[in-house]
Amino acid sequence: MYNSKIIGLGKYLPENVVTNDDLSKMMDTNDEWIQERTGIEERRWIKEGTDDTSAVMGAKAARMAIERSGLTKDDIDFIVFATMTPDYYFPGCGVQVQDMLDIKNVGAIDIRNQCSGFVYAISVADQFIKTGMYKNILVVGAEYHSNGLDKSTRGRGVTVIFGDGAGACVLSREEDTTKGILSTHLHSEGKYADKLIVEAPSIKHWVPQIMEAEEEDLSYFPFMDGTFVFKHAVIRFSEVIIEGLTKNGLQKEDIDMLIPHQANLRIAQFIQKKFALRDDQVFNNIMKYGNTTAASVIIALTEAWEQDKIKEGDNVVLAAFGSGFTWGSVIIKW
Ligand code: ACO
Repeated sequence: MYNSKIIGLGKYLPENVVTNDDLSKMMDTNDEWIQERTGIEERRWIKEGTDDTSAVMGAKAARMAIERSGLTKDDIDFIVFATMTPDYYFPGCGVQVQDMLDIKNVGAIDIRNQCSGFVYAISVADQFIKTGMYKNILVVGAEYHSNGLDKSTRGRGVTVIFGDGAGACVLSREEDTTKGILSTHLHSEGKYADKLIVEAPSIKHWVPQIMEAEEEDLSYFPFMDGTFVFKHAVIRFSEVIIEGLTKNGLQKEDIDMLIPHQANLRIAQFIQKKFALRDDQVFNNIMKYGNTTAASVIIALTEAWEQDKIKEGDNVVLAAFGSGFTWGSVIIKW
């Protein structure tokens, strides 16, 4: 058995910055409400007329990750792509990245686990490397939310939160099993699927039915029972971090860097307090990017690394919670 290790990190954020004040011109909201409840100051939304999509942004982040890893595209053995906003209903974005980066005909899969998407994706990739099946895997998380949001006052409880962006890493075989990804922990609770959902189009409720609905059919916009999700998030985040630490004989004091999914700054602050972590032990960038779901953990990890906040030997913890419900953690010896 091997371990896997992150050897290259990359990100891509669309240039177009949308501030809270910009949103207040589209809907009845304001900077104070958004900052107080979520910590978000601005987010990136793809500008109409540009070519960016989840797959395109993912490919840009992936190119950077491969370049920084010191490998070439020809060294990639497999692609795992996490998104809840794929370019097509099918096929998935993974195969598009294979084509866009001109990677040889390796396998490519998509992961559909929303905010936990990247944690699930890295866990899947880790298993392939552990067993020796593959040596170098490209793991991508990307989201293009802005085109699918309700930008009227009706959608304000959801729309102000989400942003567009992508991150990627190259995961590679590590012979020393005390280094790299030590363990991953995944969970789900499907009975709460309807608490955070985009219902349509689905095979049960396809486009003609939406168009023909007598009253305006809003099932293609994200629905979130925010307070319910918040309460579950803080519990599950804590549980799954403790599960990961315990598995590796670590205490909360051993955490050098926690990268929480960027769902809401208040959730991250709650976890920070609960684990008695200092500001320099938790990385947040939701203020700049909002919630980029499957891209959030990998964009944050990339920026923490770019800012020299992670050094060799550090215990790095990734944790996420989101729609499904799904949640998970990753414990890394950097
Ligand atoms: N601007 C101004 N007022 C607003 C806005 C807005 N953008 N949105 C809602 N309001 C109003 C509501 O209408 C409500 O008004 P009322 O009291 O008159 O009815 C009031 O503000 C409070 O609304 P709540 O929804 O109760 O606000 P809450 O404090 O719960 O904050 C939030 C909402 C920020 C969404 C929070 O619940 C949250 O962050 N939830 C968790 C999100 C999360 O973790 N998601 C998981 C990942 S996402 C994924 O997996 C896809």
